[in-house]
Amino acid sequence: MKILFFYFLKFYILQLSNIINYKRTDIYGIALNVFFLKLSMFWFVKQAYKKNKIMDAKEISLNEKQVKPVVDLLNDYLASYHIHYQKLRGCHWNVKGQNFFTLHIKFEELYTNAQLTIDEIAERVLTLGKPPHSRFADYIKESSIKEINTIGLHDMDMVDALLDDMAKLIEMERELLEATDKAGDDGSNDMVNRFMQFKEKNTWMLRSFAGKK
Ligand SMILES: [Fe+2]
Repeated sequence: MKILFFYFLKFYILQLSNIINYKRTDIYGIALNVFFLKLSMFWFVKQAYKKNKIMDAKEISLNEKQVKPVVDLLNDYLASYHIHYQKLRGCHWNVKGQNFFTLHIKFEELYTNAQLTIDEIAERVLTLGKPPHSRFADYIKESSIKEINTIGLHDMDMVDALLDDMAKLIEMERELLEATDKAGDDGSNDMVNRFMQFKEKNTWMLRSFAGKK
């Protein structure tokens, strides 16, 4: 395949030089050029795709094409979870006031859970055959959740910020449940459902703590 590519590349360069030199300006020559250029570009894309492949989803009786939207959503979800996780740590470190002992412990419980969740999401992406995002640059770029500065943040504003994050994550989870359902991916569906139930319950608890309905 590589040899074929370089053959096409050579042919393409020759054609291009002919056009530049006005030796051959016929429409067929140009069409051939475009065809071989597209063919070589397709080869490049295919090679890049193969490089990013860990395993074929068909190994676990799933269709790779059908599962692709799930993988993409899981990677976005992973990015958002990382930002949420770091926010939880910030809240745990920077919380002040009379609720310190309650919230310091609660935030630790939440970030410990988020850490395990992140690992499960990333490993599910790998199980479906693709590499998970693993750079902070990607997390910041892809996350639907925004970073905040927790230094000096009022304790109840921390609770509000975390409730907003959870609402966003639950929204993403509902989207994922639909996508996994369409792809017949029961494994991801079950996993996301578990994570969603944890946050649903904690939404109730944090809202009760804040005296909200
Ligand atoms: Fe700690």
